[in-house]
Amino acid sequence: MATYFTEPSRTFSEYLLVPGYSSCECTPANVSLKTPIVKFRKGEEEPSLTMNIPMVSAIMQSVSGERMACALAREGGISFIYGSQSVENEAAMVRRVKATKAGFVRSDSNLSPDATLADVLAKKEETGHSTMAITEDGSAEGKLLGILTSRDYRVSRMDPNTKVTAFMTPYEKLICGRDGCSLSQANDLIWEYKLNQLPIVDEEQHLKAFVFRKDYDSHKEHPNELLDGDKRYVVGAGINTRDYEQRVPALVEAGADVLCIDSSEGFSEWQAITLKWIRDRYGDSVKVGAGNVVDAEGFRFLAEAGADFIKIGIGGGSICITREQKGIGRGQATATIEVARARDEYYKETGIYIPICSDGGIVHDYHITLALAMGADFVMLGRYFSRFEESPTKKVTVNGTYMKEYWGEGSARARNWQRYDMGGANKLSFVEGVDSYVPYAGALKDNVDLTLSKIKHTMCNCGALTIEELQQKAKITLVSSTSIVEGGAHDVVVKDNTLDAKVK
Ligand code: IMP
Repeated sequence: MATYFTEPSRTFSEYLLVPGYSSCECTPANVSLKTPIVKFRKGEEEPSLTMNIPMVSAIMQSVSGERMACALAREGGISFIYGSQSVENEAAMVRRVKATKAGFVRSDSNLSPDATLADVLAKKEETGHSTMAITEDGSAEGKLLGILTSRDYRVSRMDPNTKVTAFMTPYEKLICGRDGCSLSQANDLIWEYKLNQLPIVDEEQHLKAFVFRKDYDSHKEHPNELLDGDKRYVVGAGINTRDYEQRVPALVEAGADVLCIDSSEGFSEWQAITLKWIRDRYGDSVKVGAGNVVDAEGFRFLAEAGADFIKIGIGGGSICITREQKGIGRGQATATIEVARARDEYYKETGIYIPICSDGGIVHDYHITLALAMGADFVMLGRYFSRFEESPTKKVTVNGTYMKEYWGEGSARARNWQRYDMGGANKLSFVEGVDSYVPYAGALKDNVDLTLSKIKHTMCNCGALTIEELQQKAKITLVSSTSIVEGGAHDVVVKDNTLDAKVK
């Protein structure tokens, strides 16, 4: 007879936290959000990889590119570069993140010399950048011919067909830093020549990066920055259970700090085979997460197969239609609670603590706090990060509003059939995800700061200064549908929509 879970499967919105005692020590400034990402013998050793905030970005084409990876590492979290691209392209992305030293920014807005003022304006609209590099082939690493800033042109007075070469600052007149210089050397040039940006070039005049005056200042404002021993950003990468023999060595060689098997359903022999191959070849030196699972049995299977962390969630993603298409999945809160229990039992038995990640279904910031209180060590977010300037998609205008595109890995657009692989032919016979728009929300840092501030305040309300303390002390209650109504502004006419605005 089938197994029945008698408790209904619940989502985060069905729960709230009940405050606990908070002492005078319990201030948001005293809260640490440091969290482990790979398994360790708790009490005997420190985890070999931790994050400073409990957030990772989803392994998705529309979320985790190299720009997102640098921006998130700067704030203390990790991006997992998407694996639904060729091995070479994914490894190259990882390599570029590792080559981005903190404060050195890869040029994202580049044009070739035959571009016109109209192209400049279009690029500015697309990327939001006012500084552009003119390179021989229009690429980010081409031979630098000049740079353009908005001070170099007057839209009202110039013909849109004017070639950029007519109004750019040509290379000969630029002050450039030499590839390999340190951030403080770059900053000395910025100060000496009163520059707003310094292009960094190699001996063949190829563009390597920019150092921006504002970024140098803000570099000092990133106390959570997540760097490896060589002061490079920490970055993760997605792998699949098909081409791991090629993909894993390429990503390891490119410098990925942690890998994750990206699959919609992880309770499978394919994952065990992949994990075994990695362990046989690299021992424990390569860190790899696995998933997704939604119950204790799935957790135990991946724990025993050797996963460094385990990801939870089937069907809860904002772009996901797996539950509708296949009728599998589980409410994200219920899945997190059950897997956390299984993880604690496993720890009691073995002394090994395996971090767990709640993946998908985070709608409100407080859902993150709930996931942590329920036992997750960190959360993976797709929709949340897709809205930011740093996501790899274009900013578009829909009905007069700025939007970003966000599509599922199981959509016809992404064609990530490996994620839904059940063996057999290499193709998706039906989709499990949709293609969508999300409202553009600006810079990652501003949004993450606000989210973390809310998490820290709630943790203080619960009397917790660390995530571990929150997990031990949290009092969690189910809510009724009428109490949800009571929880929002109600029976008043709200004057404005600035509820989420930062208090100035
Ligand atoms: P979100 O944060 O709610 O948008 O969920 C993101 C998560 O949804 C990802 O980390 C994946 O686990 C999952 N996901 C990504 N693409 C798809 C899809 O096409 N179908 C189902 N789930 C998906």
